Amino acid sequence: MEYLNIAIAKGRLVDHTIDILRAIGINFPDYHEKSRKLIFEDPVKKIRIVLVKASDVATYVERGATDLGVIGKDSLIESGANVFEVVDLGFGRCRFVVAGLEATVLQKHKFIVATKYPKVTNQFFTERGQTVETIHLNGSVELAPLVGLSDCIVDIVETGRTLQDNGLKVLAEIFEISARLIANKASFKTKHSRIDDFINHIQSVVNEKGAVGQ
Ligand code: PRP
Repeated sequence: MEYLNIAIAKGRLVDHTIDILRAIGINFPDYHEKSRKLIFEDPVKKIRIVLVKASDVATYVERGATDLGVIGKDSLIESGANVFEVVDLGFGRCRFVVAGLEATVLQKHKFIVATKYPKVTNQFFTERGQTVETIHLNGSVELAPLVGLSDCIVDIVETGRTLQDNGLKVLAEIFEISARLIANKASFKTKHSRIDDFINHIQSVVNEKGAVGQ
């Protein structure tokens, strides 16, 4: 049996994913949180996970380097990748928001938005008929309005602590997101029964967790 390869976004999503895989009998004996290894295998179930930057998961899957991927909906939308989105995994829930120091910035004729998500940002403001200049940053976006780089930010909020600790307020809600299982389109055909079986197992664990409100 061939290995099924899964790219997982490093960080918050890894432990949740490993928990779900464990629930369907897949185990990675040498995985531990502090390891710097990037590849782990279950040699019995023939599952291999590779840990990559969140913004790179869609690339690995789209180009067929892995059959499947676990990625936040935020990174998936921003990637624009041509992949199948097969399961809403239910964890990694957060919100896309516009945040800033004062709501009045949104009343300006034109304003500057700093973000890791230029596509989501442009789509949101275009739909509202507002013209914005978008500055693409790679992280610590909350800093931008504090040092005068932008009028506001578009970012994801999970607990709200980063906004709070930096004195920023939510000025507008965009939409909610969660982690998704995605599949390479060619793998979906060539390894169909394997991937289909895997998806069904994952979906039933997600449904059970949902049923008990986790
Ligand atoms: C994300 C996001 C916020 C923060 C929100 O950043 O961009 O900065 O988490 O989480 P909270 O609402 O629980 O505080 P991440 O931790 O991925 O780091 P980055 O800013 O360096 O990308």
